[in-house]
Amino acid sequence: MTSPTDPHDPKGGQADSNPEAWHRTPNGDVDISIAYSNPPTDRLMALYADWAEHYDADLMDAYGYMAPADAVAAMAAMADQGIIARDARILDAGCGTGQAGALLAAAGFTHVDGADLSAEMRDVAARLGVYRQLFELDMTAPYELDSGRDSGRGDMVCGAPDTAAYDAVICVGVFGYGPPHVDHLPLIMDAARPGAPVLVTVNGLGWQKMGWDETLMPVLQDAGITLARQTRIRHMVKEGIHAELLELRRG
Ligand SMILES: C[S@@+](CC[C@H](N)C(=O)[O-])C[C@H]1O[C@@H](n2cnc3c(N)ncnc32)[C@H](O)[C@@H]1O
Repeated sequence: MTSPTDPHDPKGGQADSNPEAWHRTPNGDVDISIAYSNPPTDRLMALYADWAEHYDADLMDAYGYMAPADAVAAMAAMADQGIIARDARILDAGCGTGQAGALLAAAGFTHVDGADLSAEMRDVAARLGVYRQLFELDMTAPYELDSGRDSGRGDMVCGAPDTAAYDAVICVGVFGYGPPHVDHLPLIMDAARPGAPVLVTVNGLGWQKMGWDETLMPVLQDAGITLARQTRIRHMVKEGIHAELLELRRG
């Protein structure tokens, strides 16, 4: 693996002499620095397709990935304060292999759906058995209440998925470098009912490199979104990388 502290654009969307190997390092590992290089979404999905089966071990063992734990702790604190119920309908947007979903279930949340653009990542998440339903979602496109699609890949969906507005949304490890980018944040707000909390983590290195200090507030203001709270949390502790946890609300 290539260290995420050394972000670069290894291919930059250019044609490749060996298209099968563009997301591999010379020693054959998945080159995860691609996720930190703002690649086109199709390249990002090719990376996750190849990485899905090793994602959990790589992130936990090599990097000490703690963002799901801290984001879910924030959700649990809201439940303890009576802000949301343990049986609230929660969407884990960009659920990946289901790390946040597993932690939400362990914290006593009983109705969690997962959505991700990567079918391979959803396949791994489905094996956990913690999501009511898993569906395909592109967070760079408008969220439409009926647009969630049954992934048809062994998950828990029975019939048409119910993607109606959620009581809370959590999105861990997706934003920072992008895509999706800061200007896509308003799209996921449409997954939440008015006033519902939307917790989003933003990679701290991506925050700096992509200029979130300058771009976040204008995007939120234009979309009528309130930043209710911003907290610094752990991201990849073995790399010394933090994340910003945003609590967003609209309406
Ligand atoms: C670093 S992983 C984080 C996964 C999980 N939330 C976690 O914390 O382990 C980023 C996830 O975002 C997903 N993703 C990237 N771009 C996306 C998009 N445009 N729409 C939906 N999901 C996307 C990837 O497929 C991947 O599963």
